[in-house]
Amino acid sequence: MNRRLLLTGGAAALGGALASGAAVAAALSGGQQPTATAVGADGPPTVDFGSDTVAFHGPRQAGVATEPQAYAAFVAFTLGAATDRAALTRLLRLLSDDAARLTQGIPALADTEPELAVLPARLTITFGFGPALYAAAGLADRRPASVADLPPFPIDQLQPGWSGGDLLLQICADDPITVAHAQRMLIKDARPFASVRWVQQGFRRGRGVEHEAHTQRNIMGQIDGTANPKPDTSVFDNAVWVTDGPQWHRDGSTLVVRRIRTEMETWDMLGRVDKELVIGRRLDTGAPLTGEKETDLPDFTAVNEVGLPIMPDFSHVTRAHISDDRFKILRRPYNYDGAPGADGTPDSGLIFAAYQADVDAQFLPIQRRLAEHDLLNEWVTPIGSAVFAIPPGAQADGWIGDSLLS
Ligand code: HEM
Repeated sequence: MNRRLLLTGGAAALGGALASGAAVAAALSGGQQPTATAVGADGPPTVDFGSDTVAFHGPRQAGVATEPQAYAAFVAFTLGAATDRAALTRLLRLLSDDAARLTQGIPALADTEPELAVLPARLTITFGFGPALYAAAGLADRRPASVADLPPFPIDQLQPGWSGGDLLLQICADDPITVAHAQRMLIKDARPFASVRWVQQGFRRGRGVEHEAHTQRNIMGQIDGTANPKPDTSVFDNAVWVTDGPQWHRDGSTLVVRRIRTEMETWDMLGRVDKELVIGRRLDTGAPLTGEKETDLPDFTAVNEVGLPIMPDFSHVTRAHISDDRFKILRRPYNYDGAPGADGTPDSGLIFAAYQADVDAQFLPIQRRLAEHDLLNEWVTPIGSAVFAIPPGAQADGWIGDSLLS
């Protein structure tokens, strides 16, 4: 198979290509598979992780337990009025097929820039089903109870342009071109069935920038993710994956996406000590104010010499911490940083993405406590909000959503 055949043979050539993805990738990379190579000064450029892949097929979707990649695009769609159960099935089959290809470094079925597909850089494409999708498919009774708009909170300044959505694609990879390419191919697939409602693009530290894998820092400079449950533990599995609820949803999850603006100008006016009191953890090490290492557990009973709690009652960690594993959630946030205003005011914040088995039972109690009292509220403002069910993964001969729709 050569490049000409690929580009002129189009869909027919690619039809059987999924199974022989290596051949396609090889054809597009001039006969050579992109592999991890360390080369000397005069060799070809080093490809460290461009060819790394994450399996698309499996009982659970990738992109949840996956170690977060450096770049993300969250793409939310509104289903067209004519998108009924049959049309939704066609859409999800198409998207699943292209997601399966792209994540494995194989061009999409009608890929217009197939060369961009050959370096997936750990690309994952995770599907989410918003509250109105079930009724559109004539299956209103299959909506998981907690997949609904969150109740309003006094801290919210939600903008419709960053809120809601019937279908979500969370596209993550360690390379921004890969994310952009996948985003474009998948939006093209969806065009006859759905319109783009919002896109949120975000980033974390670039892969390989730090020597050791340790908890990332967010755009406010805080070590963020310390108390997350760790993949491959029973705490993680119980927190994140659905084990009861509707049968079709087992091995799925739910996702809350909140766009939270960070008020960097006023945050900058705080000294380090105050910034640490707001969170309840140190900026340099991420250790709780009552400990020395990031992994030390905060001691909410410890008091200082005048009898005041060392972890302030209203610090973010004090309020967000519920000491019962049934309230754990997986936070998988990305930073955003748009163009500043003319006066230099930043447009930045977090695309706060939280995975949990059940929004009502896990996310909401935490969010209520934070909305009620959290020193951090002074410097962060939720401006978007959306909730999705994460369906289970697809088998090699299936598609995402088949347990719901077929
Ligand atoms: C811009 C907004 C936010 C920022 C900058 C932020 C930052 C942080 C930081 C620095 C920590 C401490 C380290 C860690 O355990 O990760 C933390 C902990 C935590 N945050 Fe947030 N957070 C934000 C919003 C939220 C929201 C909206 C929720 C949930 C509704 C949340 C839930 C939690 C939880 C559950 C913890 C762990 C508490 C524990 O120690 O058990 N955060 N956050």
